Amino acid sequence: MARETCRPIFDYYHPESVVATEFRRLLHNITRSIDGIERKSFLITSAMLSEGKSTVAAYLAITAAVYKKRKTILIDCDLRRPTVHKLFNLPVENGITDLIDGSIKVEDAFKSTPMKHLWVVTAGTMKDNPTELFEGDSVKKAIEQIKFYFDLVFVDCAPVIPVSDPVVLAPELDGLLLVVKAGSTQQDVIKRACDIISKSESHVVGVVLNNVQGVLPYHYNHRYYGYQYAAKKR
Ligand SMILES: Nc1ncnc2c1ncn2[C@@H]1O[C@H](COP(=O)(O)OP(=O)(O)O)[C@@H](O)[C@H]1O
Ligand SMILES: [Mg+2]
Repeated sequence: MARETCRPIFDYYHPESVVATEFRRLLHNITRSIDGIERKSFLITSAMLSEGKSTVAAYLAITAAVYKKRKTILIDCDLRRPTVHKLFNLPVENGITDLIDGSIKVEDAFKSTPMKHLWVVTAGTMKDNPTELFEGDSVKKAIEQIKFYFDLVFVDCAPVIPVSDPVVLAPELDGLLLVVKAGSTQQDVIKRACDIISKSESHVVGVVLNNVQGVLPYHYNHRYYGYQYAAKKR
């Protein structure tokens, strides 16, 4: 069957845009050395579905590849709703599930992208038992193997409340980033997610407020500052 294709996400990345500026700022904040620890690998999750995890993970990986020019990998570990392959117009097969069950070698999981420093590990062949796949040590071994080849690692994961995958994986990464859909996710739901995370071995490096347009106070809107930094003709 023909694979559904649409414009890949990197087509929407414009280095001079407000979005690109925010992602550079975010990347700087999460990677900078705090207490002498330089963080290189990150798990992106949220409390619930559709808060923007995959979008944030993909933009962060693109930003790292473009701006830091370091060898960067984006791994799709949301095995129930994988989307990274769709964002990059790649086949889903030969990805993380295949690496976990030993049917491919680690080097065969790396898919190149048109961006020089960016590679992707897709979710892999769909399995009936995603929870089981995350229970053993194989998933940790797979992440460890991938980390060996890359300078910066971003893992797009399932949400915290419905499944245990993020708290199982978080100890393998240097930091956890929680995406919250502003104006949509209820406070109690976020508190519940924070409670789950705080009981796990994760190091929270930040919270990303997604979808802020028209939801947060006026001073969050870049237009308020009248400082569109598109280069002016002199
Ligand atoms: N800031 C945003 N503005 C507009 N649409 C967004 C934004 N963030 C995400 N989306 C859209 O919302 C939907 C869910 O986002 P996605 O990143 O797939 O969420 P998740 O991975 O948390 O399920 C997608 O269609 C995505 O394109
Ligand atoms: Mg997703």
